[in-house]
Amino acid sequence: MARIPQETIDRIHDSADILDVVSRHVDLKKRGRNFFGLCPFHNEKTPSFSVAPDKGIYHCFGCGNGGNAVNFIMEFEKISFVEALQELGDQFGIPVEFSGNDESKEFFTHLYDIHQLATNLYHDALFSNRGEDAKKYLLDRGLSEESLKLFKVGLAPAGSSYLWNAVKGKNYSQEVLEKSGLFGFSNNDVYDRFRSRIMFPISNASGKIIAFGGRVFGTDDPAKYMNSPETPLYRKSEVFYGLNLTRDDIRRSESAILVEGYTDLIQLYQAGIKNAVAVSGTAFTETHVQQIRRFSSTVYLAYDGDSAGIKAALRAGYVLLKGDVEPYVIEIPDGMDPDDWIQKDGGKEFKSIGIKKASGLLRFHLKTAGFKDLSSSNRSNLIKEILTEAAGISDPIVRQGFIKTLAQVSGVEENQMVHMFSQQLRKKRPNSKSKESSKKPQLFTTINAKAELGIIKVLAGNNTKAKEIIKEKLDLDRFDNEQLKKLAQLLIDKTHVNPAEIITFYDSAEDRDMITRILMEEDETTEPLQMAEECLKTLSKVSVKEKIRELRIKIREKESDGEDTLELMKEVVKLQKEING
Ligand code: UTP
Ligand code: MN
Repeated sequence: MARIPQETIDRIHDSADILDVVSRHVDLKKRGRNFFGLCPFHNEKTPSFSVAPDKGIYHCFGCGNGGNAVNFIMEFEKISFVEALQELGDQFGIPVEFSGNDESKEFFTHLYDIHQLATNLYHDALFSNRGEDAKKYLLDRGLSEESLKLFKVGLAPAGSSYLWNAVKGKNYSQEVLEKSGLFGFSNNDVYDRFRSRIMFPISNASGKIIAFGGRVFGTDDPAKYMNSPETPLYRKSEVFYGLNLTRDDIRRSESAILVEGYTDLIQLYQAGIKNAVAVSGTAFTETHVQQIRRFSSTVYLAYDGDSAGIKAALRAGYVLLKGDVEPYVIEIPDGMDPDDWIQKDGGKEFKSIGIKKASGLLRFHLKTAGFKDLSSSNRSNLIKEILTEAAGISDPIVRQGFIKTLAQVSGVEENQMVHMFSQQLRKKRPNSKSKESSKKPQLFTTINAKAELGIIKVLAGNNTKAKEIIKEKLDLDRFDNEQLKKLAQLLIDKTHVNPAEIITFYDSAEDRDMITRILMEEDETTEPLQMAEECLKTLSKVSVKEKIRELRIKIREKESDGEDTLELMKEVVKLQKEING
């Protein structure tokens, strides 16, 4: 596989000036040492997005997103690490070459090329004689020629080597052909994966085509849609169909309309409802929520108006809710999908009835479950089911509001509902706790955590003397928080500290967000030397206290076994003195 040498990555980190990179996309104003602007990753009216040029990092105190220049480009354009490096390399004049053998050098470029070539080929076919029937079919369905062109809709004709004939002379490697997902292989034959299908090209957020969805046309293949498999370019759970065209409208309108199908999205867009995205037949996942949350905190679900659609909308709705996005459900008249509805009644109706009268998720859930007409035991079961979902909401304020609303709409007293919720929690706890809690943002409220943070700040700052003291006296094992421990270690090991580089050691976006926040928040009120001394003292105190607690437990055990505890008592007294003195 293609790989960019570490040396090139380091050079890009060194030269890609964070201020340069960010200010191309965000209007920044200087305040103190840092720069502030409106966050491009969530909607806000007052700036909480900050850039620290001397550290090479950015962090938004509103939504928590943070990182270095490369992370910013990845997030902003929704592109991969490799693509971001290539882009920054171009911008700052650093040639990005891949190491590895010749064949893998241009692996990604070739994959993109092949998709672009296929898109053009299919699109031309739709607008040529052989595409006459397919085009007529699409126009009859109310899609305009303009839309077909904008979305580069195409036709994969019936033959099994339409694409292959255009590709085989190009000398793409076997790996590229296999990983493209566009071909099948049998014995020595290569054949087109997509045949007799209307083709919807799927783009990444920067507009490069990375996959296809193909709707059956002119045969009786039982699979109505066939989609590209997962490939190095296409990770289903991260991609929304249409987002490359609708991103700005979603930001502007502060909400997104989520539909299931390609044609739903095109139909909405064409009707002037442009803040839409489609999941295109894949399950709606947490990763999707993370993506969408960058653009808007409200999502309208416009799933099919049949029972399968309702079920899927509920499932997606709870995933959104747990990911801190507010879900509403647009009720599509029975048996139709958004595409059919707009064809029948037009975009105005969709806006004035669909969007305006959308229900909150809870109301929708109770209504579609026929809550009013259920027996009391079935009501109780349904409420328990909903409370189980509520347990997954991480934001306590949102959770509380949700339970309150549930009480209101179901007509159960609020106290009673809270009681049921805690019962439900107790039942759920054993297996789900560790996973849930590890995902929550860390608040650093314990004394130990605060001292750990203080130490990090001194290490990341530029008071050499204070740093020396820490390097000399700190016992890293006293750190409770693993990420902070790692960060302290990195800061101690590096003689020349560059925060932008430090965060490359963190793979998860959550860790990165946390670390940039820490590095960004400077404590200018306390003098670094004093801070270093105090934090070191706290850390050692806390661990002594820890020891005392352990001793007390031992003492209690011994006492209940009727054993002598004098020695242990003495030790406790000694430690106690240590703290006080
Ligand atoms: P639908 O069956 O509702 O299709 O599936 P549609 O979009 O309304 O298409 P038309 O109107 O019949 O032409 C919704 C979406 O689910 C995915 C596709 O992305 C489709 O757009 N899907 C559906 C599949 O991936 N595979 C299937 O077999 C069916
Ligand atoms: Mn449809």
